[in-house]
Amino acid sequence: MPDRALPCENDMQIGDSVNYGENSMSREKVSKVKTEPEETPAFGHLSRRTFLSRLGATGAAAAAASPLLGLAQTQLKQEQAETPVTVAGGVPITLRVNGKEHQVQIEPRTTLLDCLRETLHLTGTKKGCDHGQCGACTVHINGRRINSCLTFAAMHQGEEITTIEGIGQPGNLHPVQAAFVKHDGYQCGYCTSGQIMSAVALLKEPCGPTDADVQELMSGNICRCGAYRNIIAAIREVRKAGKLGGTNASI
Ligand code: FES
Ligand code: FES
Repeated sequence: MPDRALPCENDMQIGDSVNYGENSMSREKVSKVKTEPEETPAFGHLSRRTFLSRLGATGAAAAAASPLLGLAQTQLKQEQAETPVTVAGGVPITLRVNGKEHQVQIEPRTTLLDCLRETLHLTGTKKGCDHGQCGACTVHINGRRINSCLTFAAMHQGEEITTIEGIGQPGNLHPVQAAFVKHDGYQCGYCTSGQIMSAVALLKEPCGPTDADVQELMSGNICRCGAYRNIIAAIREVRKAGKLGGTNASI
């Protein structure tokens, strides 16, 4: 047991002496501990300062190149969207999505969700549980909401399929999208496209006047971030404004 209380390291100042019994350190030693050498050899043959300066230069070069990378990735995505993948042995079907006809060849058991995401590259529709329990995959079929993970794409030929990409665009947001932005109706955003698709459909469904009524009709859409209060606030605003008309707009 030490005969004196040990000093608290948080209270220690440069120049203070430290007594840890027999391993006591002199003022000079403490000073060395606290004062970092200007050029500590590290990272092999590079000094710390040289290493950091080179790292900074690399980061600056990467930052300068990132707009070009982003442009290239956007172009690649557009090309992929215009060139649907066909599957050997698949069946040819025609889907009308967001007002545009797509002829694709898919395995007959392909879900609508997988067809939208993997074949048509419309990745705004999200896959959460893939079991009909989270609502992240919600799309509209002829104006009615549906979990796209629970239905086959081949069952929806000749129908009007609407995804989040067909609801609104940057600069021309759907009122529900604008309200979600205004009320912070999302955090990570993973559930958001499904929430918005459900909310847009809800505006034309029989729904009571209270928030509890809205919560009931939105209960199929799970938000792991817990943004429910803001989601309900966004929907409430759109309903009160009577935007889009619908059967429950007179709140
Ligand atoms: S992914 Fe369809 S309900 Fe969860
Ligand atoms: S915003 Fe993250 S899951 Fe809903």
